[in-house]
Amino acid sequence: MQKIEQLYEGKAKKVYSTEDENLVIVSYKDDATAFDGLKKGTISGKGVVNNRMSNFLMQILEKNGVKTHFVEELNDRETVVKKVSIVPLEVIIRNISAGSFAKRFGVEEGIVFEEPTIEFSYKNDDLHDPLMNAYHAIALGLATREEIEEIKAMAFKVNSVLKEYFLKLNVKLVDFKLEFGRLADGTIVLADEISPDTCRFWDKVTNEKLDKDRFRRDLGGVEDAYTEMMHRVFGD
Ligand code: TMP
Ligand code: ASP
Repeated sequence: MQKIEQLYEGKAKKVYSTEDENLVIVSYKDDATAFDGLKKGTISGKGVVNNRMSNFLMQILEKNGVKTHFVEELNDRETVVKKVSIVPLEVIIRNISAGSFAKRFGVEEGIVFEEPTIEFSYKNDDLHDPLMNAYHAIALGLATREEIEEIKAMAFKVNSVLKEYFLKLNVKLVDFKLEFGRLADGTIVLADEISPDTCRFWDKVTNEKLDKDRFRRDLGGVEDAYTEMMHRVFGD
């Protein structure tokens, strides 16, 4: 399958049309941003890690009954995915307090929750992705009630599958962000990516951060963290 024309360039990926109107090719970049693009940088090799890891995890999820956009990995940075229209919600699941949750509620990072939490942000950089609840999303016509219910169920299923998977690799899945899309017939599928850009990963024993927080917080060892996660998942 060949790229025909660039349809879109995001902060971390480019999307190209193909000869099949229902399929697009995603190309992962090494560019990294944080804080709505205010902080910019490059994480060498990130595109390869995120492409390969996301594809691998989506295939695990498919085996566990979660529909995803994944079709075929073309090479280290490029993947064929189903064309979707993205539901403009960032769906965040948390197992352990960290990041904006810890800040918003004035608690330390590392509190293990009895039950995972879910929250939505409106995917809108100009408004800084404001937190919203399901009623707000429905009121604004971003998704229907039925779609929200399906997205919630899928997101919690993703959490239970991936939490268990990463624990076997001695990694705590602290929290993560998902995006969902609609196929032409309206079917909701998991889209975007699942990677160290979109998840918080802490080493099970040392709590060392193995994700993009190393970039966001200038902790150093950014590339090493991505490489380490690649080793844990693929053993190479
Ligand atoms: P937060 O604690 O900053 O709200 O982030 C929660 C999770 O979502 C964390 O795993 C990082 C991920 N995330 C993204 O993937 N994209 C974003 O723009 C933000 C703010 C967070
Ligand atoms: N999506 C954020 C940005 O706008 C990056 C992040 O914090 O993950 O740059």
